[in-house]
Amino acid sequence: MPKIAMPRIGVLTSGGDAPGMNTALYAFTKLAARRGVQTVGFVGGYEGLMANRRQILTPRDVDTISNLGGTILGSARSERFRTVEGRAQAAANLADLDALVVIGGNGSLAGARRLGEESGVCVVGIPASIDNDIACTSNAIGVDTALNTIVGACDRISDTARAHRRVFVVEVMGRHCGYLAMASSVASGADACLYRESGKTDAERVAELKEIISKGLDPTRGKQRILIIKAEGVRMGTQELCETLQSYVDQELPGVSVRATVLGHLVRGGQPSYQDRALAGRLAFQALELAMAGTGGVMLGWQPWDTQGGTPTPDAAVWHYPLSLVESRTESLLDGSHPTTKRRVQMMENIAGVLAV
Ligand code: F6P
Repeated sequence: MPKIAMPRIGVLTSGGDAPGMNTALYAFTKLAARRGVQTVGFVGGYEGLMANRRQILTPRDVDTISNLGGTILGSARSERFRTVEGRAQAAANLADLDALVVIGGNGSLAGARRLGEESGVCVVGIPASIDNDIACTSNAIGVDTALNTIVGACDRISDTARAHRRVFVVEVMGRHCGYLAMASSVASGADACLYRESGKTDAERVAELKEIISKGLDPTRGKQRILIIKAEGVRMGTQELCETLQSYVDQELPGVSVRATVLGHLVRGGQPSYQDRALAGRLAFQALELAMAGTGGVMLGWQPWDTQGGTPTPDAAVWHYPLSLVESRTESLLDGSHPTTKRRVQMMENIAGVLAV
């Protein structure tokens, strides 16, 4: 029998912060209050949960946070939560609560699954990670804002690059997943995109880039800039790549310089976009519904249509998935065997020749 009401639900943000986490906290707290449910925030992710560092969240506390980047609850990457003992401590601190909502990336969601399975706590996950490396959701919270930031940065870099007819390498976050590099290279009109999932060797990548640079800067083509977007997860370092390309252009195109910008954590901050705010609100609403119904061990996903075996929610584009399924599908997303990764790679291969034309 589903429970009629739940007086207290815990919430935490975990892993790499993502723009829109605060919007999710805002929406969750306000919706919960309206239902007579108290929101209990844990400060500092799973570390804060294990230490029982609590902060009651009222609608007044969250009034002004929905447009803020980062997370007002703080976040952490916790080694101790990876242990059975750490999770038992966390479960003990949840004894007076009815459910826990975890807003975070794939590691955090894997931890949420174990916590739920080992303790019986009702745990509901909301995917939030700029990397878009979580299966069973088209977008995680934060991805859209991160892409807007990257595209804006690439536009600016293109201005200065064109003024000097330079080659620029822009490195973007994505330790295990090249999605940000792929999507932003299309939207920025980049000449090339380097991402781990292509499986290319460094030598192959460099050979392709040399050709792209020579063709693009050839006077008959007369491009004013070459923009190469590189995912952080590509083994060859950005510095090493630039030096290699610089020695090539020194010989082939004297006077041209190669510069690099590593966007790094710049991409993780900033005000959430409309898309991320809307997504955060919709996922938070359904997370509350599930938590109140006592449906745990699941993650909400945003999918215009579902191909992953999800369970529908009253929101046509929001589904829920067992956390165990999310975990195994995420593994295949990252090792390249998931159809989504294959599609991403295929799309990039299809347009590779177009990017540089
Ligand atoms: O949030 C994921 C991520 O953005 C990765 O792309 C990046 O490698 C990592 O976070 C950096 O994490 P940290 O801030 O812990 O160094």
